[in-house]
Order: sequence, then structure tokens, then C-alpha cells
Amino acid sequence: MRTLPVQGLSAEAVAAALEDYGRDDLPWRGGGTFAYVYVPEPSVEQVIKHAYMRFLTENALDPTVYPSLLRFEQDIIGIAAAHLGGDAQVVGNFTSGGTESVLLAVKTARDHARAMKPQIKTPNMVVPVSAHACFHKAAHYFDVGLRLVPVDPQTFQVRVADVAAAIDADTILLVGSACQYAHGVIDPIGDLGALALQHELLLHVDACIGGFILPFLRRLGEAVPPFAFDVPGVTSVSMDFHKYAYAAKGASVVLYRDKELRRHQIFTGARWTGYSVINPTILSSKSGGPLAACWAVLQHIGDGGYLRYAQRTLEATQRIRAAIEAAPGVRVLGDPTGPLLAFAADGFSVFPIVDAMRAKGWFVQPQLGFMGSPPNVHLSIDQSTLDVVDRFLPDLLAAIEVARQAPPPVPAEMLAMVQAIPPDAYNRQMYEMMMAGARAADGLPKDGTATINALLNAMGPELAAKVMTEYFNDLYAPPR
Ligand SMILES: Cc1ncc(COP(=O)(O)O)c(C=O)c1O
Repeated sequence: MRTLPVQGLSAEAVAAALEDYGRDDLPWRGGGTFAYVYVPEPSVEQVIKHAYMRFLTENALDPTVYPSLLRFEQDIIGIAAAHLGGDAQVVGNFTSGGTESVLLAVKTARDHARAMKPQIKTPNMVVPVSAHACFHKAAHYFDVGLRLVPVDPQTFQVRVADVAAAIDADTILLVGSACQYAHGVIDPIGDLGALALQHELLLHVDACIGGFILPFLRRLGEAVPPFAFDVPGVTSVSMDFHKYAYAAKGASVVLYRDKELRRHQIFTGARWTGYSVINPTILSSKSGGPLAACWAVLQHIGDGGYLRYAQRTLEATQRIRAAIEAAPGVRVLGDPTGPLLAFAADGFSVFPIVDAMRAKGWFVQPQLGFMGSPPNVHLSIDQSTLDVVDRFLPDLLAAIEVARQAPPPVPAEMLAMVQAIPPDAYNRQMYEMMMAGARAADGLPKDGTATINALLNAMGPELAAKVMTEYFNDLYAPPR
């Protein structure tokens, strides 16, 4: 189907082809997927789909002609601001996801500094290594320097002294996460706020994944410290609805303490011959579907429903954490608050666990080691997990045992060889050799990932990034 059909296909034929294309996708119904998707009860799906389709065609490019979309957005921003301890001054926008929210927060900080601190010519931001990689993307896109600081190797929280030491005269923005994705740990936001005030800097809290569920968990008795606008010094917060609010993908917000700061987010283009372009966010034309669907799911599940979802999520998380803590050879990293956790293995490779779980129909996520964080397996747990936890835990414990008994996915000599490759020596031929070797070792070209993950982990982030770029550059091209 790589050329247009001469005669259009019937609706039935298109529907059948769609099903065929979707055949091998990661299944998400039934709670088997511990990353990427967040699964509400089946009845909620219909509400989301109805709202999405009802506003699919409306264009959020121009809120003056689609007052519906403006109303949805104002409602959603109001809900988000109240949820995050904001007052009536807090403003914000609906975006396509966490990455866009963070990109905008960084771009806003840059343009705010250009206006308020014009002496700064090469702005930088101080970012914990545990903060999501979308901050690196923002640094790259907007030419803001990235001053990466380590995290405590026991708690995986950033240390305020390290952040303070990284601040210089060109620093415009500090960053903390509540919680960070990798280990599910909340940074010391209160202390970061005090530091930001002391240095008169902006502070962005990335609450993309934790922001929605954490206040519910606090109400359930969990020790959730203040992490958003209730912390003095916090100037912007990002929070995704397409994670623990169970909205359709394409639903996040970025909020600012006041309009003065948000002004720097808005792009207005009047110097061309066409219509006036006034874009608060990155996209211009965009479907009203995600916005309407987000509004609908918030109204439908409501406060009581989300509290119940949080309770179910908490119970599943506690059971999984306890089982991992009791299992020999593995340990939970740090002390996560909320529905995410990561575990590492001592004395064996953690990566075969991922393949052993996949073979049993579960998706758990491998994470490479970096700056004090060992290679590990990440789990994002949601309300649907509770229904499958009794089946999941025996399979997880068995997979850990398989990995504990398995030979290393890559022999030590090969790892040493890979570790010694300087990133500059990288070329296509080397890449092809590496991939062929990994496929042969796994014997499972499609699903086997342990060998390639062990190799990527050994080669370090610079070389690994080149390899992964090459892989995607091949992937998004016609097969050879
Ligand atoms: C803390 C945090 N920030 C940002 C993001 C990026 O969000 P998205 O994938 O919606 O762009 C994520 C995604 O998991 C996240 O956990």
C-alpha cells in the first residue's frame, strides 16, 4: 500500500486493513503494559472516543471562532491550577504532551531572560540527570545550555548543594521533578524553590507524570510533600493528563505563576502577507479532539473516581514493591513516592527479565545505566494493574529467576571491547556488525532485546545515542 490506490477502497476494506496493520501492536487492554499507556475502566473509553470524534475536525488554531475549544481549555487550566495549589493568577495552556509542555517552559524562560536579563548572551539551565530527556531536547532546540547535575546514588533525588554549585551568571532556569520518571522519586522541591528565590531564578517543576495522581495519593495518607505552586519559588509546572488522568494521548498543560511570565511563551507572527498567527503553543493548526476528550474524561471520572483510581494504583504498587523487595538479587532503587518504580539486579544482568516477561505477554521497560543509576527495569503502574497483579507477580519473580540463572547476555570480553570504542570512531559498518551480532546472540530478531541493551549500556551514552539514531534512521524508511 505504498502508492495511492487507483480506486479508493471501501470503508470495510480500509477497516480490515487497519486491523491487519495493528495486529502486532503491544496489547494494552487488560493491564499487561507497564509503560506508554494508562488504562481506565472500559466504560470510560467510550466517553473519550465520543468527545474526541465530536471535536475531531474543529481547529484549535483560532480560539476566537471555536469558543467551545477555548471553554474546554479554560476549564482544564482551572482544574489543573487548583489541583497544583495555584491561585487565581496562575495561567497556562493545553499542549500535546509532556515534551511540548517542557519545551514551552524552557522557551518561555529563555525569552523571559532575553527581556529581563539582556546581559545574558549564552543562557543555561541546571537540570538533574534524572529529569526527563525532553529537557535535553529543549536545550538542543532552543540553544539553552544544559548543566547536568548528578543525583544522590542512594535516594536518586537531586542534592540542592549540587544544583547551587552548578549555577553561574548565565543560569536562567532550575529544574526539579515531581516525580521523575526513571525511579519515581520526588526531588526536594521546597529547597529548590528557596534556592531559586535566593538567586532570583525561574524554577520549573516537571510534574508531567506525577502531578495529577500525587495530590490524590496525599489524600490517601501517602507522604507527598508540597511540589507545585504551593512551594514559594516555583514559577512554572508541567502536568500531563494523558498519563494518570487517563485522557487520550495529546493532553498536557504547562502552567505559569502569572501572565507576565506566560507572555514570553506566545509567538505572534504579523510580518507576512497572510492571516495573523498567534500561537501560545508549538503547533498551529491542531485537532480539537484531544482537548475535548481530556475535558470529557475529567468530567466523567471526577474527583471521587480519581481517588478510587489512585487507591487501586497504590494498592497494586505496594504489592509489586513488596514482592520485588523480598525477591533475591534485585532491589528497588530509591524510595519512590507514587505509582512508578525501578529495580536493579545485583550480580547479574537485569535485561533478560524484559524478554522473559515479553514472552509471557507483559511489557516492562529496560533503562540503561547512567551517572550513578544502574541498569534497571522500570514499571509504571496504573489502576488497571490491580486486576492483573496476581498473575503478574509470579511471572515477574520467575523472570527474575531466569535472569539470575542465565549467562550474561554479552560476554565480558565483548563488553570490554565495546566500552573501549571512542564515540568518534563510530561508522555504519561498525553499526551493522553490532546489530548482526546482537540478533544472532538473541536468536529472536524481533523480540530479543537483552543483548542489544547490554551492549548499549556498555558503550555509554554518546555512542549509544549514535547507534539508536542510526537504528531509527533505518526504521523510518522503506525496508531494504
Ligand atoms: C516526568 C516526565 N516529563 C516529561 C515526559 C514526557 O512526556 P511525553 O511523552 O508526553 O512527551 C514524561 C514522560 O513519561 C515524564 O515522565
